[in-house]
Amino acid sequence: SILIVDFGSQVTQLIARRIREAGVYSEIAPFQSAAEAFTRMAPKGIVLSGGPASVVDEDSPRIPQEILDSGLPMLGICYGQQALTRQLGGQVEKGAGGEFGEAFIDIGAPCALFDGLWTQGERHQVWMSHGDHVAELAPGFRPVATSKGAPFAIIADDARRIYAMQFHPEVVHTPDGAKLIANFARHVCGLTGDWSMAEFRAAKIAEIRQQVGSAKVICGLSGGVDSSVAALLIHEAIGDQLTCVFVDGGILRQGEAEQVVGLFRGHYNIPLIHVEAQTLFMNGLAGVTDPEAKRKFIGKTFIDVFEAEAKKIGGAEFLAQGTLYPDVIESVSFTGGPSVTIKSHHNVGGLPERMNMKLVEPLRELFKDEVRALGRELGLPDVFVGRHPFPGPGLAIRIPGEVTKERCDILRKADAIYLEEIRNAGLYDAIWQAFAVLLPVRTVGVMGDARTYDSVLALRAVTSVDGMTAQAFSFPGDFLPRVATRIINEVKGVNRVVYDYTSKPPGTIEWE
Ligand code: XMP
Repeated sequence: SILIVDFGSQVTQLIARRIREAGVYSEIAPFQSAAEAFTRMAPKGIVLSGGPASVVDEDSPRIPQEILDSGLPMLGICYGQQALTRQLGGQVEKGAGGEFGEAFIDIGAPCALFDGLWTQGERHQVWMSHGDHVAELAPGFRPVATSKGAPFAIIADDARRIYAMQFHPEVVHTPDGAKLIANFARHVCGLTGDWSMAEFRAAKIAEIRQQVGSAKVICGLSGGVDSSVAALLIHEAIGDQLTCVFVDGGILRQGEAEQVVGLFRGHYNIPLIHVEAQTLFMNGLAGVTDPEAKRKFIGKTFIDVFEAEAKKIGGAEFLAQGTLYPDVIESVSFTGGPSVTIKSHHNVGGLPERMNMKLVEPLRELFKDEVRALGRELGLPDVFVGRHPFPGPGLAIRIPGEVTKERCDILRKADAIYLEEIRNAGLYDAIWQAFAVLLPVRTVGVMGDARTYDSVLALRAVTSVDGMTAQAFSFPGDFLPRVATRIINEVKGVNRVVYDYTSKPPGTIEWE
């Protein structure tokens, strides 16, 4: 395994991800507790992350001495490079200006990190983000790559197997970065690269058992990939100490409740409470048109219902959530700065404090595609694993204006036709998310010989890597007209269909 010492970079989890991609197990430990993690793990290699501090400052984070003295291969990234340099006897200077963003490095010498990848004389794109820089190498080091702003873009001490770079190999903007990290893990540390999701599953199961003991756990199941995978994994770990709660507020898609209840209760035999709270939600949504008011009402009502069910079960000490790493980054980067709330996202946030429960979040280190891989590993059916994301407030935020049961029913039908056509055309997996939006606008149409005066439905489909940015999906020419015709013919209440071409930014994916 590899130990990643975290100096507080925003992208440390990406280092772990790249190492997992190379088929090697890794763990991240904050620099303060890295020495203990080192003793416990007995790793075969060390990666030192970037971080916001300046090694020039006296009280800045340091690499624990036992790690420095271990004789293990080390890879220092950005702050990690500077800490290595300073602690091994070189000089780091506070930069005037620094380098941020795309940069190019010139490969000046061979290096074990370049195996099968780069050769001397080549120039390669990397991603820089640093203020300070190495001014004088520590004894034993030689430069192997340089950039305009960083003469020591990559340095190496071959005898001690210590490599360090000023840029960030873990981000996608360093196109060959994943391979550099894989070379470190496999060629330098000599790890075989046979770690897989199967091992992650086994390790997490052991961890969950250890954390939970004989206590009860409840899990809010939405039917989405994240909560489904979390529930399955936890059930595998602790069996019927887990109870799932599935709240149906009448804002789910067609067939969703049946599918979720059928799979979890029927197929997996996991204790599941199916709460039929349609009336409660619809009554509360009556007259509410402001998007934030809808979101807040739904979030709060969900918590109320969940809490009531948890009380009935009694004695649950833990709340399970399918929190992913991107959720963690977003919430971290939103603390401390004066940031604007674009939308109040709803998951079961707020519950743990209110109910005084401890959290079980087995997916916290993973990215969406890794959760999908874990879902497959756990045998979750493809229709669940590959599902498009669906927001907590559900159809309510796809009905601008007032939400009523009638409008939810109309939208459900139209949405189901749209998705059925997308699946039939083999396009489902090429799209990040596709859905219909029922507009509070009526237009005139003619059907048969009669005049109609009905609602407009907007169709949306986007491609995206992480939901943070998105582009409208381009359907083949005859697809949208066919779907429009089907919807208008089959869904009473809709007589016009339009397509949304807005990208994000400036739009958002959902309409509210
Ligand atoms: P926006 O509309 O902000 O959406 O561009 C980005 C992604 O997040 C989903 N989304 C939500 N997911 N609770 C969720 O769990 C929410 O309240 C919520 N609001 C938006 C949205 O569907 C898209 O995938």
